[in-house]
Amino acid sequence: MTSSPRIFPEGFLWGSATASYQIEGAVAEDGRGPSIWDTLSHTPGKVMNGDTGDVADDHYHRWSADLDIIKDLGLQAYRFSIAWPRIQPDGSGAFNAKGDEFYSRLVDGLLERGVRPVVTLYHWDLPQALEDRGGWTNRDTAFRFADYATHVAGVLGDRVETWTTLNEPWCSAFLGYASGIHAPGRTEPESALKAAHHLNLAHGLAGRAVRDALGADTQLSVTLNLHVTRPDDPDSAADRDAIRQLDAIGNRVFLGPMLDGAYPKDLLDDTKSVSDWSFVQDGDEATCAVPLDVLGINYYSTSRARRHTGDGPMEHADGHGDTGHSPWVGADDIEFRTQPGPYTAMGWNIDPSGMVELLTDMSRRYPDLPLMVTENGAAFYDTVAEDGSVPDADRTSYLHDHIDAVGQAVDAGADVRGYFLWSLLDNFEWAWGYDRRFGIVRVDFDNLERTVKDSAKWYSRLIATNQLPPV
Ligand code: FCB
Repeated sequence: MTSSPRIFPEGFLWGSATASYQIEGAVAEDGRGPSIWDTLSHTPGKVMNGDTGDVADDHYHRWSADLDIIKDLGLQAYRFSIAWPRIQPDGSGAFNAKGDEFYSRLVDGLLERGVRPVVTLYHWDLPQALEDRGGWTNRDTAFRFADYATHVAGVLGDRVETWTTLNEPWCSAFLGYASGIHAPGRTEPESALKAAHHLNLAHGLAGRAVRDALGADTQLSVTLNLHVTRPDDPDSAADRDAIRQLDAIGNRVFLGPMLDGAYPKDLLDDTKSVSDWSFVQDGDEATCAVPLDVLGINYYSTSRARRHTGDGPMEHADGHGDTGHSPWVGADDIEFRTQPGPYTAMGWNIDPSGMVELLTDMSRRYPDLPLMVTENGAAFYDTVAEDGSVPDADRTSYLHDHIDAVGQAVDAGADVRGYFLWSLLDNFEWAWGYDRRFGIVRVDFDNLERTVKDSAKWYSRLIATNQLPPV
């Protein structure tokens, strides 16, 4: 029996995503200031093979040809991020007209090609000058972010409808300030909680600033990497409580203030030996809860955890890399178990059921808030065939199964409005440098040539028909 192909609702938005530091290069050009990722990537031992974003995909110079690829593939929308240190090199004070001009050209180029721009204001490249003053542990950074957001809204607001304040603040706070695998590479648990709060505040302040500048028609959003973690033993109350705790420190630490206007009480209890949270001031939580039009969700994989008992060594298989310092603040007795395969090149298990679970769960929790998958995709060690093509069947199969999962969630009633594939181009994959390729377009890092992979051709067919093609 052959089943009929999955068809997506009319108007469902198909796009792809990138981020400034991962693709642009030109880090010292046209007045751009240094960011925390320039500093970290130039610190020996922090990024695999000593890779840096100095050149990356050289998108800063090749943007026009890259937009042609976007158009040729038929992508309807393109999610990109703006490098704060290009717009405002020191993170405060003077703005840099050359930075404005670059993103203005990019937006015009997208519109000319009939592609909708979706802007992320912060995808991890904090101006180093602000980190020198405490970074996200400094409350003032949230106010600096709102100033920067107001400026960018003024420059691009006549042409950009959808504004995302932050990308994955969990990674900024907990990988940046607790486990130290991401910039700024600090390993201070209380600083991570402070950073999380100031990111929430930054979201609220910037969201309000963008809305004030651009009016009610603006689509305001934030992108979160919500963790789908399952109990090792579903019958164990201790394991189920471990999952509750991880949901608090992994998800509700942002969902609470941003969507419910308050930090969850259990989060404050779980972390009380680390912090009294006195950095949260009266009125902050209300500020964080700026009304949103859409919630961006990034999904890649699932985890499995349990409350660790006994003296044996703990597993740390949470997929975020192990620096010997946990990103899971206050959860030192929670153990992440190795998941059964198959895996991607990141070592992340492939589990499309987590996509269905996450989208349906979020739609149940926030029924009036439309959802957008703002990232999903997979790294594999691609090979180039003799004819020059890139037959990345494993990536296509991952995409097929996860996009099918999005369709299942829609069938189950989740209000999902679109899907952005991570990523358009192979790029600088943070601590893993250029070793991990997520692109549907190959970048040869010797000569920066682009080659459309088979997965991109498959995605292109999906967009053209709104039907999931077979693999
Ligand atoms: C997400 C990031 C993105 C990319 C993918 C693989 O956490 O937002 O920049 O690195 O993971």
